[in-house]
Amino acid sequence: MTKVAIIGTGPCGLSMLRAFEHAEKKGEKIPEIVCFEKQEDWGGLWNYSWRTGSDQYGDPVPNSMYRYLWSNGPKECLEFADYSFDEHFGKPIPSFPPREVLYEYITGRVKKGNLKSKVRFNTSVSSVVFNGNNFDITSHDKKNDKFSKDIFDYVVVSSGHFSVPFIPEYPGMKSFPGRIMHSHDFRDAEEFRGKNVIVLGSSYSAEDVALQCHKYGAKSVTIGYRNNPMGFKWPKGVKEVHYLDRLEGNKAIFKDGHKQEADAIILCSGYLHHFPFLTEDLKLKTRNRLYPPKLYKGVVWQDNHKLLYLGMQDQFHTFNMFDCQAWYARDIIMGKIKIPNGPEIEKDISKWVALEEKLENPDQMIDFQTEYTKELHGLSDYPKIDFELIRKHFKEWEHHKVEDIMTYRNKSFSSPVTGSIAPVHHTPWATAMDDSSKVFLDQSKK
Ligand SMILES: Cc1cc2nc3c(=O)[nH]c(=O)nc-3n(C[C@H](O)[C@H](O)[C@H](O)COP(=O)(O)OP(=O)(O)OC[C@H]3O[C@@H](n4cnc5c(N)ncnc54)[C@H](O)[C@@H]3O)c2cc1C
Ligand SMILES: NC(=O)c1ccc[n+]([C@@H]2O[C@H](COP(=O)([O-])OP(=O)(O)OC[C@H]3O[C@@H](n4cnc5c(N)ncnc54)[C@H](OP(=O)(O)O)[C@@H]3O)[C@@H](O)[C@H]2O)c1
Repeated sequence: MTKVAIIGTGPCGLSMLRAFEHAEKKGEKIPEIVCFEKQEDWGGLWNYSWRTGSDQYGDPVPNSMYRYLWSNGPKECLEFADYSFDEHFGKPIPSFPPREVLYEYITGRVKKGNLKSKVRFNTSVSSVVFNGNNFDITSHDKKNDKFSKDIFDYVVVSSGHFSVPFIPEYPGMKSFPGRIMHSHDFRDAEEFRGKNVIVLGSSYSAEDVALQCHKYGAKSVTIGYRNNPMGFKWPKGVKEVHYLDRLEGNKAIFKDGHKQEADAIILCSGYLHHFPFLTEDLKLKTRNRLYPPKLYKGVVWQDNHKLLYLGMQDQFHTFNMFDCQAWYARDIIMGKIKIPNGPEIEKDISKWVALEEKLENPDQMIDFQTEYTKELHGLSDYPKIDFELIRKHFKEWEHHKVEDIMTYRNKSFSSPVTGSIAPVHHTPWATAMDDSSKVFLDQSKK
């Protein structure tokens, strides 16, 4: 019997499990599956952890989520085609849920079957080696401190790529008297109440960490961009300046001559694709981009078609794109999809990479990833979902952000699965301090 290893049970690993479950429910004989998850529960980044640094076994904590994080895109754009929000919550809910609500949704889909029995929790994959025919995998049961070796025909890498921070150094950091941290270790914006905070970066973490600090009472927030400013209309107390040059004592000095006293510096400088458990011949090496090279259809490792990667792209589309990838990977493993020859693979990858390199603005990037996801969707029996509506929602959302970065999370969108329209949330995001699932879902509250 074919044996498949799935590394990681974040949203991507769970999509993979769900894809096999679908085939099994249709009466198809599925392979033997073993999932490895180094944390004690599934859900990946959405399984919030208060921990930073290492866990109780000395393993680095992969979690980058923080306390008051809300979805940064409309939930309708990430909805599962086979499990709508209406089905999970029993009613329409607002479009931008906090992380706790999304965690309930992601895990709610996979809870019903016996999928948990396929997962070895607290077990970290430490090595994957291709022996010419199949893969030798070594894993570490952290709780019992035991190493095991298993042999697999296929390996699915769904270990995420927003867990290992990229940490640059700037002159003066060694003698800076305040706190310096990466957004990976950011947990609670309350820590920065009354403080002068410097945020470095110009992508989603920089935007949200800056706004979180502002919302929870920072004295000032100064964002230092490197290449392109985000350029939003920032609220009073937040400003965006050009790139940090150096620190002198507690003063941050920027390239544009701007000077700012600082209590804390939060590096929102992104993450590394980091796969220490893979040998060089199997390892994806890329920056965070919409089409990492060497992945056919964004999934199949060009040099070894028994190695599949999920979710390695930079992401507008998330959960339903991961599903399309997982359904496609499943059909390759089950022999329903044939991989073409080398030159055809090369041509296909080059086509997508060349298109990606020409993209100039968010609308074009949204179009690019929507086209990619639609193509994958057409290759499997992943249920019907309206990607044209999702494309439209994403563009509207981008424009809402430009209009007002403080209010875009108060808007509502329609579902690409059920068509239902999200209610407007009872409290605007900027003043919603209690974002527990209970308070968020209580729509009687005004
Ligand atoms: C701060 C932050 C906020 C985000 N907010 C949003 C949002 O609002 N909306 C959205 O759609 N997306 C958001 N994302 C994007 C996020 O990438 C996806 O939502 C999603 O979590 C990706 O799923 P994944 O399964 O690829 O990775 P992850 O969620 O990272 O899961 C990977 C899993 O693999 C496990 N693992 C890793 N290495 C090993 C190993 N060697 N052995 C065993 N297990 C291993 C980890 O423990 C983890 O459980 C956010 C990302 C970050 C960092
Ligand atoms: N739900 C939410 O609110 C939320 C919040 C945070 C994150 N997220 C998600 O988390 C994921 C990761 O986002 P991310 O912003 O952490 O990573 P990212 O999108 O990969 O962006 C990395 C950023 O780091 C900057 N950078 C790199 N090196 C730098 C340096 N030496 N100095 C200054 N800046 C540097 C880059 O700037 P250049 O462009 O100049 O290279 C870029 O702006 C995304 O999927 C995002 O959606 C969501």
